[in-house]
Amino acid sequence: MPDLPFQFTLPFPGLIPSKYDGYIQRKLSSLRGQFLDTAAYEQMLAVEDTLVYEVYEIHRPEVVGEILSGISIVHPGRVGQEFFMTKGHFHTVLETAEIYMCLKGEGFMVMETPEGETCVESLGPGVVLYVPPSWAHRSVCTSRQQDLVTFFAYPADAGHDYGTIERQGFGKLVCEAANGSVEIVDNPRWNKP
Ligand code: F6R
Ligand code: ZN
Repeated sequence: MPDLPFQFTLPFPGLIPSKYDGYIQRKLSSLRGQFLDTAAYEQMLAVEDTLVYEVYEIHRPEVVGEILSGISIVHPGRVGQEFFMTKGHFHTVLETAEIYMCLKGEGFMVMETPEGETCVESLGPGVVLYVPPSWAHRSVCTSRQQDLVTFFAYPADAGHDYGTIERQGFGKLVCEAANGSVEIVDNPRWNKP
């Protein structure tokens, strides 16, 4: 844990925090059930458990008033037509918001409420996105070459509810269209709340 107050830098080109005390790697196997094309998923996984995204965290005590921040890096790739993405979650303390700032790459933040309202916002360098309280969120990398790198900050006591999204999925999917463009489509397997 850093001395207080503390600072860190996000050096180019990697943007990996100069100090961090949490590091998470999520591979294809941890996203089972989330991609629409299950045959493509199984085929890809049989070849290699590819690294999909990484998270560097600057931890703080999980109490009211503290803010946890870090860097999320989603790598380029697709499962079938669907771009690589994070698992996505609600916060356990549902009424906690989060700020993201995109530092590099191209992509989208897919969001939805417990009532099933959906919203998809585009991300690119310099975009600051406010994820309001109660909105589940998932970031998606749509660049074919570049990582999607975002800085995030949220209340340290928020916690993560992954189970709800694992069960119901998100209402919107981010896919590559036949002509190579990016399209947002309805998820036919969405268990709409
Ligand atoms: C924290 C947050 C981000 C994500 C990260 C990885 O509340 O939203 O730090 O944790 O982008 O995504 P998940 O947690 O969905 O695997
Ligand atoms: Zn979050």
